Amino acid sequence: MNIKQIEDKHFMRTYKRTNLVVKKAKNQFIWDDKGRKYLDFFAGISVCNLGHCNDKVLKAVKLQLDNFAHVSNLYYAPAQVKLGEELVKRAFPKARVFLANSGAEANECAIKIARKWGYLNPSKLGNRYEIICFNNSFHGRTMATMAATGQKKFHNYLKPLQEKFVFADFNDIDSIKKLINNRTVAVMIEPVQGEGGIIPAEKRFLKDLRVLCDKNNLLLIFDEIQCGIGRTGKFYAFESFGVKPDIVTMAKSLANGLPLGAVVAGKKCADAFTYGDHGSTFGGNPVSCAAALAVSKMMTAKFLYNSSKISDYLRKKLEVLKNKYSIIKEVRGVGLILGIDLTINGKDIVNYCLEKRLIINCTHDTVLRLLPSLIITKKDVDCAMKILEEALKWQEKILKK
Ligand SMILES: Cc1ncc(COP(=O)(O)O)c(C=O)c1O
Repeated sequence: MNIKQIEDKHFMRTYKRTNLVVKKAKNQFIWDDKGRKYLDFFAGISVCNLGHCNDKVLKAVKLQLDNFAHVSNLYYAPAQVKLGEELVKRAFPKARVFLANSGAEANECAIKIARKWGYLNPSKLGNRYEIICFNNSFHGRTMATMAATGQKKFHNYLKPLQEKFVFADFNDIDSIKKLINNRTVAVMIEPVQGEGGIIPAEKRFLKDLRVLCDKNNLLLIFDEIQCGIGRTGKFYAFESFGVKPDIVTMAKSLANGLPLGAVVAGKKCADAFTYGDHGSTFGGNPVSCAAALAVSKMMTAKFLYNSSKISDYLRKKLEVLKNKYSIIKEVRGVGLILGIDLTINGKDIVNYCLEKRLIINCTHDTVLRLLPSLIITKKDVDCAMKILEEALKWQEKILKK
């Protein structure tokens, strides 16, 4: 049996994989089992922001592994403590951090903080526990984060869902106002909706949302799991929007390929948890933390500026394609989280590009999703755009037949 047949026989059918069998990956490239080289414009769903097997990350990981991999959160692990300090310093003063393993876990933790804070800060009716989320959002695959996800397609077989998540329309402040009541405790939002089709929040909307949360004494939670850690051109996505949340969650690219999640809570709710309220055996694994520290060290202002320049270059090329090919409705995104909204399903274009050794993805059926590592060059962009244009031309030709 080959690898695909073995997987098909033994694995639950949760992932619809492509044919690519990965042998090796380095920087912005992947090699398959036949030695063919691919240009990666997906970075493992926004995970390897510094490229695959980044030398400095690798060095930090190896060093930590030589010392210890795990000791439990009952003892101090220096890499973990240093990372926590770094994430807090980069976020807001007087914040506190919790380290988890994944995005869903980071969001679960944020939801728990909000509930605890609502318990400590009740309204005249008592506890506050209701969280306003958004239509089209995605917050993870655990029961609570699925309930917080504003896409009905995920909900059907999970019912009864965890209660008290309600949904407003993205970029529509009035729809939020209508949902606020004596039980509301927080608003949770992705600054750029990822799985929902790469939809950035409007700056004005986020600014109004901050004011609305302050006026009603609500926590503002930013889920930066897909759009954080440099992807928008700043370390935290909230820096690109000029709006500070009370809680920010991150994961994916935090440790550039090793599992790690984090929640940073600002001074309003930093002390909501007390001993015993939350925990995780593997959360903040020292090896992942060593990797994340190396990531943070490399994400200097100069590095992030350079990635913004490449984003501008890529964006211009995409606009040219948009003007040339009528199947492109819109190009949108921030920094290097970019979506190409099509009039058709994007699946065939993704497969065409893969055949030609370019890795991209499609989300929300019609949106081609580009999440390259932040180290790509102009040459990489030119190469990717050549293949993408071929694919678009091919699709338009088929449609005209
Ligand atoms: C915005 C957002 N939140 C949460 C998650 C869940 O993260 P994880 O898969 O690490 O649990 C994702 C994953 O795609 C995401 O994009």
